[in-house]
Amino acid sequence: MEYGKFPAYRPRRMRDGELARQMIRETELSAKDFIYPLFVKPGQGRRDEIPSMPNVYQVSLDMLMPETRELLDCGIHYVLLFGLPASKDEVGSSAWDEHGVVQEAVRIIRANAPQMYVITDVCMCEYTSHGHCGKLDQDGYVMNDETLDLLAREAVSHAQAGANMVAPSDMMDGRIGHIRRALDQAGFSNVPIMSYSTKYASGFYGPFRDAADSAPAFGDRRAYQMDPANADEGVREAMYDIAEGADLVMVKPALPYLDVLERVKRETNFPTVAYNVSGEYSMVKAAAANGWVDERRVVLELLTSIKRAGADMIITYHAKDAARWLAEG
Ligand code: PBG
Repeated sequence: MEYGKFPAYRPRRMRDGELARQMIRETELSAKDFIYPLFVKPGQGRRDEIPSMPNVYQVSLDMLMPETRELLDCGIHYVLLFGLPASKDEVGSSAWDEHGVVQEAVRIIRANAPQMYVITDVCMCEYTSHGHCGKLDQDGYVMNDETLDLLAREAVSHAQAGANMVAPSDMMDGRIGHIRRALDQAGFSNVPIMSYSTKYASGFYGPFRDAADSAPAFGDRRAYQMDPANADEGVREAMYDIAEGADLVMVKPALPYLDVLERVKRETNFPTVAYNVSGEYSMVKAAAANGWVDERRVVLELLTSIKRAGADMIITYHAKDAARWLAEG
């Protein structure tokens, strides 16, 4: 080999053998990076697998602790709770019910597993009869400002139940500032906000809407979620939410938006979370079930790519499997 004026650096030398690769590895995935989404519902003895999401379950409150212990055993210390309420109405009033399913789930986990950090999803779509993320006007449009108070009530009720952190996913403008003020006024100035700041109107949420029973009854969410074509705007969305008081920002989905993730992290220099969403999960599971890809290999590769792009934390349905694989080494 001829090197000319360059030093004789041959990258291949450091790729031979796991211990050599380990010395120069730039991205290290760990169970500490994962947040696991949990779907909770009323009832007794229920642990129902979501058909489009193999090995992901909706669990009733009495089944929550075995699920929580399994996560802790894998080294996972963060959960994100989604509720399937007993009843729905036009404005989603069960979202701020003191004895709602999420509020009860928070109490159960906090009382029985203090080592678990409990984050709650704050949105109206699981609680409204029409499945939109807020209050509707006569034409079926979500009314931004009227929805803010409802979200704030929901967030405060989660904090009252003991949530460690709240995560608004609705995409109404101004909600972070509104929720921040409401939390502060209610005495929860220490409860941080993880904002779904940069959330795209995506086809990859399909399986989740089965899981959370939150598909819009008509129309779609394009009036409030972001256009997949926009990256500058994705960075701006994160900056607005930081200015309003967000403690962490998010890019969602993850894999089709790694460029946006990289920019949000670099340009805001702020803690950034990526949501590896339901459709991303289902695609991998379907291909793996058919023997078309090696599940362990592609999952670890995908999660590494998300972390390499800039994610400080990853919300992922693969968390349990990935944590076990990482522990095996
Ligand atoms: C809205 C919400 C959605 C997801 C999380 N929170 C769906 C939506 O906007 O329709 C999607 C998560 C996933 O697909 O895994 N409350």
